Amino acid sequence: MSIAEAAPRTADVSAPLLPALVERWSPRSFDPTVGIDDVALRSALEAARWSPSANNSQPWRFIVARRGTEAFTTIVENLAGFNKAWASSAAVLVVAAAEVVDEDGNERRWAVYDLGQAVAHLTVQAHHDGLHAHQMGGFDAEGLRTAFGLEERFVPTSVTALGVLGDPEALPEPLRSRESAPRTRRALEEIAVVH
Ligand SMILES: Cc1cc2nc3c(=O)[nH]c(=O)nc-3n(C[C@H](O)[C@H](O)[C@H](O)COP(=O)(O)O)c2cc1C
Repeated sequence: MSIAEAAPRTADVSAPLLPALVERWSPRSFDPTVGIDDVALRSALEAARWSPSANNSQPWRFIVARRGTEAFTTIVENLAGFNKAWASSAAVLVVAAAEVVDEDGNERRWAVYDLGQAVAHLTVQAHHDGLHAHQMGGFDAEGLRTAFGLEERFVPTSVTALGVLGDPEALPEPLRSRESAPRTRRALEEIAVVH
């Protein structure tokens, strides 16, 4: 049974949305035999580049590694155990680091906010281009900092797996079941007060 047959992955929205926002979801099943072409990868990164940021400070850096490279292996080694189990099948892993202090030693107060927004744009563009993205917070930030020689003022904040959807049957349990578990959200009225 395909994922779509087991449970729809599209969002149960209460208002019309852009197609990519309705359809986007975070799979753990990636096809380990397929890569991402240069154009699609560049588009995803370009979307991050053009996202807004406080004072246009652009407080983000990305370490981008294709499967099969030494950098990819290094990133996988620094993922938390359960993330290692699935994310190593992704075509690309993107470490996103926030520049929390500028070159003059001043705090960049909105750096993590800005970085998150940049990664959000990356994921939506990737989805629009037929890819899937899955962000992770489960990784060893200090391990990545050391491995890639990042300065202290850059904080590795997320790792995003990018790739083409794979067969959920190839996942170990409980990840396989989670792949078709219902996607839920709080009601809009619970999270937003409209005056
Ligand atoms: C900052 C952040 C950290 C996350 N960390 C992990 C993680 O370590 N492992 C994982 O499998 N999913 C992780 N996720 C994915 C979320 O669990 C997922 O986005 C959420 O359940 C909503 O599902 P959806 O993206 O399919 O709508 C993370 C997502 C975000 C935004």
